[in-house]
Amino acid sequence: MSRTCLTVILAAGEGKRMASATPKVLHKVAGLPMVNHVINTARLAGATKTAVVVGAGGDMVREAVERAGADISTHEQRERLGTAHAVLAAREAIAEGFDDVLVLYGDVPLIQVETVQKARDGLASGADLLVLGFRTNDSHGYGRLLEENGELVAIREHKDATEEERTVDYCNSGIIAMRGDRCLEVLDAIGNDNAQKEFYLTDSVEVSRAKSMRCFAVEVPEEETLGVNDRSQLSEVETIWQSRKRHAMMLGGVALAAPETVYFSHDTAIGRDVTVEPNVWFGPNVEIADNVEIRAFSHLEGVKIASGAYVGPFARLRPGTELAEKSKVGNFCEVKATKVGEGAKINHLAYVGDATVGEKANVGAGTITCNYDGFAKHKTNIGPGAFIGSNTALVAPVSVGENANTAAGSVIHQDIEADALGIARAHQVNKPGLAKRLREKFRKLKEQRG
Ligand code: UD1
Ligand code: CA
Repeated sequence: MSRTCLTVILAAGEGKRMASATPKVLHKVAGLPMVNHVINTARLAGATKTAVVVGAGGDMVREAVERAGADISTHEQRERLGTAHAVLAAREAIAEGFDDVLVLYGDVPLIQVETVQKARDGLASGADLLVLGFRTNDSHGYGRLLEENGELVAIREHKDATEEERTVDYCNSGIIAMRGDRCLEVLDAIGNDNAQKEFYLTDSVEVSRAKSMRCFAVEVPEEETLGVNDRSQLSEVETIWQSRKRHAMMLGGVALAAPETVYFSHDTAIGRDVTVEPNVWFGPNVEIADNVEIRAFSHLEGVKIASGAYVGPFARLRPGTELAEKSKVGNFCEVKATKVGEGAKINHLAYVGDATVGEKANVGAGTITCNYDGFAKHKTNIGPGAFIGSNTALVAPVSVGENANTAAGSVIHQDIEADALGIARAHQVNKPGLAKRLREKFRKLKEQRG
């Protein structure tokens, strides 16, 4: 029997310290807005629905998260009156009735699925409220978790704490799981008689206990509870995210000789026995099958690569590119929106965009698809087995037939039929002795000038 769960994600913070026109929770980690990381984690931890609480004027956040799926609702907290008040902005969603209500934060994106599950497991085994806590050497500013006989009896905000309570190093992450059927009853009973005159979500512990409910704290790694307030903290979170992903990639069969120099996107998917050399960057939407080699300093986004393919060094693969089995894109090549067929090669110094390259075709060094006329993009089709001579300009729209060739240095603007050779360059004329005569003439002129 699986329990239903509502996740409430607080995302009402303005994020002034980000110094940005973009709301804080939309700043990205591994190419995905922080709030979307939290939404995904909640889903993987079994959330039935997710309610995102946005601040006044939170239209950008609202739009971004509503796009994430039909299981997401947004709720506006018009005035910032505290964390309990913020959760109550989602009253309508809570009132729908869920077994568990889980509170997460749009600016705390490193929380792991297993950790969230631990909180839900606590509710499943009979606790009424669970708080995720962490221990730290620098507890200043955090709410302190006060326990007695293994039960959580209160969370004391730093500003309200006594000197003795401030010596407690067990801190509130803010993440809390409550039984859904009594959630509103508890939140509605919270007042604001405290140092900040705020409605504290943390008071739900004492309120629950007064109603004979049992509360517990679960210790989790501090790292997972890191919140982002400025761009420096955002980069710290990115660093941790990347190191987790590198580790997972290596355990999954990817060889990384210098893992700390490789950057993954939130959705990068790579098979086994893939080698990624140093200084490679993966943007969103990259999928790589087994036995692929990605050599140093390559930059990939929106790309699908089949097994046995070979990329780089210094290759740039842009969105819409698909490399078939055993195909090859070598150094200083840019490939965009192009299907490269099985065993085809684009080995050196080329731009291939809006094209298809047939099986076993060979695209020579310096080949350029002239795909853009300043107004529209046009297609280039290179047939199977075709051989594009070095420094060919393919003026699109244009087709090179199966097993056809182009002569090096050609500007090809007419289709070439199968098995034909297209030559589009001036005829060569050799003038016997002319180089020598010119050399002598220029030498004399130089002597006369002194
Ligand atoms: C809160 C906790 C504290 C915990 C700390 C962890 C309370 C009362 N205190 O303190 O015990 O150790 O987090 O970082 O809960 N928010 C709203 N609307 C509001 C107020 C806050 O959406 O009216 C959001 C903020 O944007 C932020 C989060 O809730 O994402 C926490 O609020 P913040 O004011 O930073 O809480 P702290 O005082 O740090
Ligand atoms: Ca506060």
